Amino acid sequence: MREEGLLAGPSLPEDEALEVGLRPRRLDEFIGQASLKERLSILIEAAQGRGEPLDHVLFSGPPGLGKTTLAAILAHTMEAQFRITSGPALERPGDLAAVITNLDQGDVLFIDEIHRLPRTVEEVLYPAIEDFALDIVVGKGPAARSIRLDLPRFTLVGATTRLGRVSSPLRDRFGFIDRLDYYPADDLQQIIERSAQILEVDTTTPGAALIAGRSRGTPRIANRLLRRVRDFAVVRGDGTIDESTADLGLKTFEVDDAGLDRVDRAILRAVIEKFGGGPVGLTTLAIAVGEEPESVEDAYEPFLLQRGFLKRTPRGRVATDTAYRHFGLTAPEPGGQASLL
Ligand SMILES: Nc1ncnc2c1ncn2[C@@H]1O[C@H](COP(=O)(O)OP(=O)(O)OP(=O)(O)O)[C@@H](O)[C@H]1O
Ligand SMILES: [Mg+2]
Repeated sequence: MREEGLLAGPSLPEDEALEVGLRPRRLDEFIGQASLKERLSILIEAAQGRGEPLDHVLFSGPPGLGKTTLAAILAHTMEAQFRITSGPALERPGDLAAVITNLDQGDVLFIDEIHRLPRTVEEVLYPAIEDFALDIVVGKGPAARSIRLDLPRFTLVGATTRLGRVSSPLRDRFGFIDRLDYYPADDLQQIIERSAQILEVDTTTPGAALIAGRSRGTPRIANRLLRRVRDFAVVRGDGTIDESTADLGLKTFEVDDAGLDRVDRAILRAVIEKFGGGPVGLTTLAIAVGEEPESVEDAYEPFLLQRGFLKRTPRGRVATDTAYRHFGLTAPEPGGQASLL
């Protein structure tokens, strides 16, 4: 069996079902990200004041931090319909045309993974979001002509885990671009307490705090760990999540006290043990741990970089002192090997 990371990575099918229930519906239920929420509420109030649809919005940030949730909140707050699609689902210009010609005035069209839109589709999107017009070609050969269809004024909300991969002409057409950052433990604890209430699970404050500390700054992971620990508490305990149940439960699922899962540790160990601490290139490293380079880069690495376990250099990834210490090892002295000669 392929080693599955419990923590990082995209949402799992079981998340999807539960996430719908756990998803905050209003901005004031959305925990944390205070300054982003403030900017969004100004954007909303201003649009409402003018009686206009919202400006186009682009959210970037690592998986599971609430991009889809915020898009749904925007639609809900504007009392607009929420239409969901994604970059990879829109393969041809016709796919996008079919979606946007079905929109009503004020609708929110959410395009997830917008950095994966094919170029030909992106070109159809430009006039659609700028002039609310769709240019279509009818007929073939010399008889072909282009006609312009008017579209209702809708709001595009894009989400991406890779802002750098969104082309600049597309980026420039958003009126509002913002980034979601990893959550501090306090916010995650509140998210866990809120979810526990919805799921009707008993948690103590220290129990929730312990799970929060191991959720790698990510609400989706906090909710996922909560469910795992809940199962453990029901099967091995009395159903209440206190500190020791949370700790034992997470140990069973191989989440360590820094919130690293098996794949995180495999990545760090590979850099240290197979590549002498690095630098090692992304693709080589991904092969060594049996993951796709894209999943290492998008799902695992951002957290390892942010917590200072890994460093990115022009020549590749390097394990830091913190990474060595995490495994009870000592980092080699800089240039230490050379001085041995
Ligand atoms: N600020 C928050 N407060 C409460 N719950 C949150 C918050 N942010 C996210 N969540 C929860 O985390 C889960 C994941 O959020 P969401 O699906 O919006 O992430 P995402 O950024 O769209 O991820 P991806 O990049 O994988 O699409 C949701 O179920 C939601 O309930
Ligand atoms: Mg999403």
